[in-house]
Amino acid sequence: MVYSIVAYGDPVLRKKATDIDKDYPQLDKFISDMFETMYASHGVGLAAPQIGKSVRLFVIDGESFTEDDETMADFKKVFINPVILKEEGDKWAFNEGCLSIPRIREDIERPEQITIEYFDENWNKKTEVFDGLKARIIQHEYDHIEGILFVDKLGPLKRKMLQGKLNDISRGKVKVDYKMRFPKK
Ligand code: NI
Repeated sequence: MVYSIVAYGDPVLRKKATDIDKDYPQLDKFISDMFETMYASHGVGLAAPQIGKSVRLFVIDGESFTEDDETMADFKKVFINPVILKEEGDKWAFNEGCLSIPRIREDIERPEQITIEYFDENWNKKTEVFDGLKARIIQHEYDHIEGILFVDKLGPLKRKMLQGKLNDISRGKVKVDYKMRFPKK
């Protein structure tokens, strides 16, 4: 099942999401629906709040970045109840976008490497280190479950310049080729 992606301005994107437990109803279906929704909108990552569910789960498939980095080919993962334990290394800029904020892309600076603890789809607890593009995608999705969006990381002037476009997105005044739900439409 393909869900509608929640657009900028919806309060669910601003909530700190809550952990889930092993009894979460139909978790397998939920995860496969998350992937299906992400593929339908050509994203590399999708966090549960983006389909209106304020829980700490996100999915990633970096395959479309294989040309830039061949180790992305099998970077397909589910992160449940993740906690970023450490962010290290020099900050570097990458041009980010977000399915909830269509047609806006900005260079965002983030530290190079992360250490993250999480459960996978089989409830195996893992602690792993990621860097570069992998860390970048995880940091972006992790922000979603904390109620943070990439545009929050821009300076006040840049943010002000984007405000009109962001308001348009909330009202559904944006061209997009996947299913979305707009809070002010
Ligand atoms: Ni996003």
